[in-house]
Amino acid sequence: MLVLGIESSCDETGVALVDAAGAGVPVLLSHALHSQIDMHQAYGGVVPELASRDHIRRVLPLATQVMGEAGRTLGEVDVVAYTRGPGLAGALLVGAGVACALGAALDRPVIGVHHLEGHLLSPFLSADPPAFPFVALLVSGGHTQLMRVDGVGRYELLGETIDDAAGEAFDKSAKLMGLGYPGGPALSRLAREGDAAAFKLPRPLLHSGDLDFSFAGLKTAVLTQAKKLGDTLEARKADLAASTEAAIVEVLLKKSLAALKQTGLKRLVVAGGVGANWLLRTQLNEACARAGVRVHYPELHLCTDNGAMIAMAGAMRLQAQMQTASKAYAFDVKPRWPLTEVA
Ligand code: KG4
Ligand code: ZN
Repeated sequence: MLVLGIESSCDETGVALVDAAGAGVPVLLSHALHSQIDMHQAYGGVVPELASRDHIRRVLPLATQVMGEAGRTLGEVDVVAYTRGPGLAGALLVGAGVACALGAALDRPVIGVHHLEGHLLSPFLSADPPAFPFVALLVSGGHTQLMRVDGVGRYELLGETIDDAAGEAFDKSAKLMGLGYPGGPALSRLAREGDAAAFKLPRPLLHSGDLDFSFAGLKTAVLTQAKKLGDTLEARKADLAASTEAAIVEVLLKKSLAALKQTGLKRLVVAGGVGANWLLRTQLNEACARAGVRVHYPELHLCTDNGAMIAMAGAMRLQAQMQTASKAYAFDVKPRWPLTEVA
């Protein structure tokens, strides 16, 4: 079964082709990605209307590229999967519209996929795929959640952020340090030259006794510190970046370990853009090795948004018979959509 996946929820257009034979883990045949970062950079963040228009320009050429690289034709596609939400409404509509048009033209069914389920299942595309059940730390630009995952579509929310996401904390802190957009990778790069103990920043909700997160206060503390530094900020920027990264990572690490303890599970999956963070990976690897926990990540290039995870999630949902693909082609999108509602 060939599944073509289309991702267009935010600022990357991603298209991919996976082959799902029988009940085996689907195999990625090819994928292509266009990042809009350069286009949005001038505005310091994503401009939704520009994002939608660019998705329109990119999606079909990317699909042609993906089919060519896999040595297949569109006529061989069995199902078209697309991101139904959450995300920017206009951007989602492009992927949904193209997927349904392709489905109608090819007389093939389509399946709408939850973007976070794509992230969650993306480690199954790696050389070291996980096995159910596991605890998932989902850390993207808009979400920070700990889930208990017992199978495809069997998700129990253990805790989540009550305000900003971890990715937002990276991005907003980076922005006020003048590091541009998206700030996470830039802040992390700069942090490697800095002293993480230079500034005492808060670790919000670290000892709250539950698995919830809060990052809004941290961003405010970074802002206060940056103002205090005034003219000396430039010289101390690497130290501030390192201190910020250390605060975010410590909270993510401790709460993940607490979730493992609470569930008694010995397997952790880290997914979403912040999962690319080297400090998070280093510290999680060390802590999990000590605790006898196996930790799984998506391949680095599949941590941030991509079409492969959408094709994969569509294929795995079909295999698990959690959802059927449809030829109704009456699409809608869900800009807001809790993951626990997809089961
Ligand atoms: O999953 P993703 O690509 O998009 C959403 O679904 O939101 O995540 C993007 C987020 C951004 O906040 C970005 O700054 C962050 O992931 N990110 C990182 C790193 N790479 C991406 N944050 C910290 N360190 C990184 N290396
Ligand atoms: Zn994402």
